[in-house]
Amino acid sequence: MAENRTQYEKLYEAEDFYWGTEPGDFLKRIIKFMPPRRGMKVLDIGCGEGKDAVYMAKMGYTVTAFDLTESGIAKTQRLAKEAGVRVNAYIDDINTFETNERFEIIYSSGTLQYLHADKIGPFFEKIRKITNPNGINYFNVFVEKSFLDPAPDWDKEETLWKTGELFTWYADWKIHYLEETIFEDNSGSVPHLHCMDSILAEKIISRK
Ligand SMILES: C[S@@+](CC[C@H](N)C(=O)[O-])C[C@H]1O[C@@H](n2cnc3c(N)ncnc32)[C@H](O)[C@@H]1O
Repeated sequence: MAENRTQYEKLYEAEDFYWGTEPGDFLKRIIKFMPPRRGMKVLDIGCGEGKDAVYMAKMGYTVTAFDLTESGIAKTQRLAKEAGVRVNAYIDDINTFETNERFEIIYSSGTLQYLHADKIGPFFEKIRKITNPNGINYFNVFVEKSFLDPAPDWDKEETLWKTGELFTWYADWKIHYLEETIFEDNSGSVPHLHCMDSILAEKIISRK
């Protein structure tokens, strides 16, 4: 695989699901905004062990998902099989991935901070291109706050973003939701606080 690494490769080898199997709350917002229609395609970037990708497949979307970890992809495939759904899950790197497919919904939760600084611009250019007209993006990213300590399970490959940085990539999209929250997390079994920026935006094609 690429030179990139993540501690999650090892963590996902455990029998238990590190992130559990309950889907992320943000999916409710996505589904409400764009309920599943036949053949509607979803891309989950940094799918981890597959809880969100499998849930979206169960809801009726056609789901593609990738993660850097072999162990995460194996678990995603296992979870999909147990749920009786199909997820096109494979190993790939957020920094270098390529696809010829187009999607109605692209989302990524907890993963953008693995983008290298010089790959952020090319990433959003790619995402713009592979989102179908009137399609949506949901992204969240951990942001830096001087009054918060680093999370105990912080990966050395991660870089915190600045407040609002995520939103600047969507200046000409229709913004449906923007938020910054501070929340408690118990991952790694040590309670800690995170600050996170989130956006849900729609790609509108100008009629001019
Ligand atoms: C905080 S976890 C979130 C996982 C999942 N989205 C969820 O909410 O359960 C971050 C994920 O990013 C993945 N990751 C780390 N570096 C990556 C990279 N360069 N390309 C793709 N995924 C990566 C990790 O393996 C991990 O699954």
